[in-house]
Amino acid sequence: MNILPSFPKIIFDFGAVAALAGELEERGITRPLIITDKGLVEHGVLDIVRNALDGKNEFAVFDQIPENPTIAGVERAHEAYNANECDGIVALGGGSVLDSGKALRVIATHPGRLREYLEDPRKITANVAPYITLPTTAGTGAEITFGGGIHPEANAHSLGIRSPHVKPDVAICDPQLTLTLPPMLTAATGMDALGHAIEGYVSNVFNPPCEAIALDAIGRVVTFIERATKDGSDREARSEMLMAALEGGMAIYMGLGPIHALANAFGDSPLHHGTLVTVSAPAVMRFYETRIDDKLADIHVAMGLGAGTDIATGIEEMNASLGLPGSVREMGYAGSDLDALTLVTIDSHFNASAPVLPSDSEFRQIVEDVLG
Ligand SMILES: [Fe+2]
Repeated sequence: MNILPSFPKIIFDFGAVAALAGELEERGITRPLIITDKGLVEHGVLDIVRNALDGKNEFAVFDQIPENPTIAGVERAHEAYNANECDGIVALGGGSVLDSGKALRVIATHPGRLREYLEDPRKITANVAPYITLPTTAGTGAEITFGGGIHPEANAHSLGIRSPHVKPDVAICDPQLTLTLPPMLTAATGMDALGHAIEGYVSNVFNPPCEAIALDAIGRVVTFIERATKDGSDREARSEMLMAALEGGMAIYMGLGPIHALANAFGDSPLHHGTLVTVSAPAVMRFYETRIDDKLADIHVAMGLGAGTDIATGIEEMNASLGLPGSVREMGYAGSDLDALTLVTIDSHFNASAPVLPSDSEFRQIVEDVLG
């Protein structure tokens, strides 16, 4: 029997952050912990939220979430949560902050240490802290998804926190919060959204409504990513990219696949997730090319590609025109143990929803191609 999961409540518009006070009240949150990172404080994004609350709500701030989410970062946020006697969480940030919030909402109410729940997510119960997300990047879709990745240490492979109970209660998507995102992060997080839409669309999970959403996301990324990257103040492009990212998050409800397995394998480094995704995508799409024709044809149309350009080449051309790298080696990845990287890629839970899996030797070749 097919169960189609529902999305959280979503508020989407320029100025949507004004809805935060009402959402806190509706959930009985009197003292939220706003988790974020230093960069967003420096760029004045936290001030936008502060102004929207207009002195009406008490809140505490933890601004030490690292660039990639770690157990230590979540545990420090937990200390702040307890020290300030908070009763709910607001995450303001990109994927790292949003995923950290999912872990925090668990340990805020559960008796064990975080690692216990990462190793066995079945221990996560519905008794989690209230959780509101405010995405500041247009890419991860983490504002609405029920999974996330937390690294045990900064340069170790992430562990998944996958449970229906970590799905945020409300996502407030305000394109205004993305206006200061720098060009390269705009490009890389936007291409991550394309990766979610493509992997979700081709996955083996039955969910026709989400398939339609995934194709819509692909069209929006292709149409608006260059404008948003070249001119961050282009409000229409920012709004369309935030919608594409949200739709990419909806596509993740169908699962992901080998592209994210590869990004995870190379994620034992400080390298950016979205960039790893888009650098990994062409090799996987080439593998799919003769194996899942119908769905590839739909993606080809959604990307607006000409007859002579396949999807892999289309993505490579987008990466190049956005100024993104062409290989993981070019990104500065130091590791070179192909066998170990291949094993981590093959073992990834992301592969469970792949429409067709490469053999071990095909995986090794893909890893080699992506590494460059
Ligand atoms: Fe991703």
